[in-house]
Amino acid sequence: MIDNEMTILEILVFGHPVLATKADEIKNIDDDLCRLANNMVHTMHAAPGIGLAAPQVNQSVRLITMDLSVGEKNEKIIILANPEILDSHGETILEEGCLSVPDINEKVIRPAHIVVKGITLDGNEKTIEAEGLLARVICHEIDHLNGKLFIEHLSPLKKNLIKKKLRKQLSKDAHT
Ligand code: NI
Repeated sequence: MIDNEMTILEILVFGHPVLATKADEIKNIDDDLCRLANNMVHTMHAAPGIGLAAPQVNQSVRLITMDLSVGEKNEKIIILANPEILDSHGETILEEGCLSVPDINEKVIRPAHIVVKGITLDGNEKTIEAEGLLARVICHEIDHLNGKLFIEHLSPLKKNLIKKKLRKQLSKDAHT
């Protein structure tokens, strides 16, 4: 990674159509994709956040980045292209938020344990067994690739209340 060439990307918020679009499969890992991945890691750290999906930075491709250490430990950074959940089991409930859904935190049910497969930036296939928070973040980011925000997991009533609140917030922002 070349630190001095990294850019903080704009993070799209609720209401942007790209966030509701199924992202395209990545066909090859080229320099542009590596640049995007590095900029996503940089953007995620700056936010700060523990996960980011390419559609959140207006790139509708199947690429996700995670780092539970939020920039403290390089070895904790996970970058996966075309991630795919092979197996999941158990259930856990935890409050979740999203950089694209500002100021909203809600409890979401996620699998307790997952096995995920993806391609790393060196082009190799990688399988990760994850549990707890990491499993949650990976599921959350893969949802983004399928055009799904975490609030879609909530009850219809709660989801509508939140959407109303977000739309009100966004129209207020647009007028200031
Ligand atoms: Ni998110």
